[in-house]
Amino acid sequence: MKCFLKRENGYQLLMFLFAAFFIPVGCVQGQLGKDNGAQYRNGMVVCAYPDAAQVGLNILKKGGNAVDAAVAVQFALAVTLPEAGNIGGGGFMVYRSAKGESNTLDFREKAPAMASQDMYLDSAGNVVPGMSLSTHKASGVPGSVDGMVEAHRKYGRLKWEELVQPAIDIAHNGFKITKRLAADLNRNEAEFKKLNEGKNYLIKDTPWQEGDLLVQEDLAKTLEQVRDKGRAGFYEGPVADELITEMQSGKGLISKTDLQNYHAVWRKALTGTYKDYKIITMPPPSSGGIALLQLLQSVQKYPLNRWGFNRDSTVQLVVEAERRVYADRSKYLGDPDFYKVPGDSLLKPAYNTSRMSTFGWDKATASASILPGKFVGYESDQTTHYSIVDREGNAVAITTTLNGSFGSKIFVKGAGFLLNNEMDDFSSKPGVPNMFGLVGGKANSIQPGKRMLSSMTPTIVEKDGKLFMVVGTPGGSTIITSVFQTILNVIEFNQGMQQAVNSKRFHHQWLPDVVYIEQDALNSADSVKLAQKGYKIVGSGPSGRVDAILKTKWGYYEGGADPRGDDTKLGW
Ligand code: DON
Repeated sequence: MKCFLKRENGYQLLMFLFAAFFIPVGCVQGQLGKDNGAQYRNGMVVCAYPDAAQVGLNILKKGGNAVDAAVAVQFALAVTLPEAGNIGGGGFMVYRSAKGESNTLDFREKAPAMASQDMYLDSAGNVVPGMSLSTHKASGVPGSVDGMVEAHRKYGRLKWEELVQPAIDIAHNGFKITKRLAADLNRNEAEFKKLNEGKNYLIKDTPWQEGDLLVQEDLAKTLEQVRDKGRAGFYEGPVADELITEMQSGKGLISKTDLQNYHAVWRKALTGTYKDYKIITMPPPSSGGIALLQLLQSVQKYPLNRWGFNRDSTVQLVVEAERRVYADRSKYLGDPDFYKVPGDSLLKPAYNTSRMSTFGWDKATASASILPGKFVGYESDQTTHYSIVDREGNAVAITTTLNGSFGSKIFVKGAGFLLNNEMDDFSSKPGVPNMFGLVGGKANSIQPGKRMLSSMTPTIVEKDGKLFMVVGTPGGSTIITSVFQTILNVIEFNQGMQQAVNSKRFHHQWLPDVVYIEQDALNSADSVKLAQKGYKIVGSGPSGRVDAILKTKWGYYEGGADPRGDDTKLGW
């Protein structure tokens, strides 16, 4: 079908009437001059693997709501995206009902009861390399299964079994792997062999190739337990036993009591505004929501739209905002159940404006000169985000992770799933960077039962009281800046959803004092101008995999599936 819808043109009413009368359901093409793909009326799923997107769409078409589809997608990704989809990890959900109520679910992993502040330090007080990443001690207590059970208990409509079964079918029957997954598996083979005894389903005698069938019988059996017993199918019984046996075989810390005590937590959504838009996002223990709102406040009064997308002034301003916000993150953010996060102070507009007042246009601020504020009072992207909207307009944004690619790369023998290495998101020692180069201190120190600080930023944006955008991404420390830039791309630079996702990104995180840019993110003249002002510009690989949905003013859903991965958007 030919493109005919365009935002902001003089024919809106006419077009609306045309659309309303002649296109009752289904898809229409993207906006004029923009390749934003098909638009849909009844719902949409955008996630990191085609087969999982199909599972989500089938659930929506069956009458499931966005939460039902999210639960089914979570389990399907645990099968089809072993590097990030998971039952052995955790995540966050941001939810907005069609009526406008919002809520968030924290199913982040927790430090085991036997964890301790200095557990990754040697006798000389130095961090032991790799210990928080590739050992049995690297794992936090998994939260994903309890999170899905909770999400379904509160908002689900279809039967739980119907939501888990598609993942079981894929695990049991196998699915054809993409070229990218084949390459990921081949690249990690040596590590899988080193860290696990015997064979497992991700190791093959000959290299994986695109189109090979990946069958996961052990995982199918584990998922059957979850299907039949819900929470108890994972945190008790044979699966829990296998997890504990695995822990004991590698001096891991997770105990039966840790599993029994794990509970996902509903937390009031963090909200803020940017111009006419309301931002609904994740509160701590993610740093993502607070940091995103701080960033938006920091740039709000500047004419980004006039300066233009990824032009030197835009990049300079955004980098300076990011520098300051990440400095705050290092000191003030941690699990609110253990540390008093000064969220109100960090989110005072006057605070963020005053932080920006120390920057001058002629020269880059040195990160060394920026301390966390005061107020009174790359491995590849291996987390995954999915955005879902249903027919009624309920929306779900979930970011979920094992942390590193394939987590700790350690399988629970017999149970067929990978363990996370989320403990690395804690600050092992003040000032020592974690695998994303992030530093932290007391707020994010290790304590038994505490949740490690995250950057995951599942977010929903409203305009005029109505759903506007659902967005999120993987990418470790770059998550926050990718979500921030995607929102600016749509609101400030008038990009459609797919274009906003495709657009090249850049990133600064205070330390190291470097601006990472994706290839061709900046034109060379602007790069030179910024370099002359003292910005250290360094090329990076692809940054993030944003999966997002925009609701057009015509009431259609327009998806953005990140071409940096196998991400897929499906709607109806
Ligand atoms: O929660 C966090 O911030 C990290 N564990 C996310 C890890 C991630 O995005 C991995 N992808 N690069």
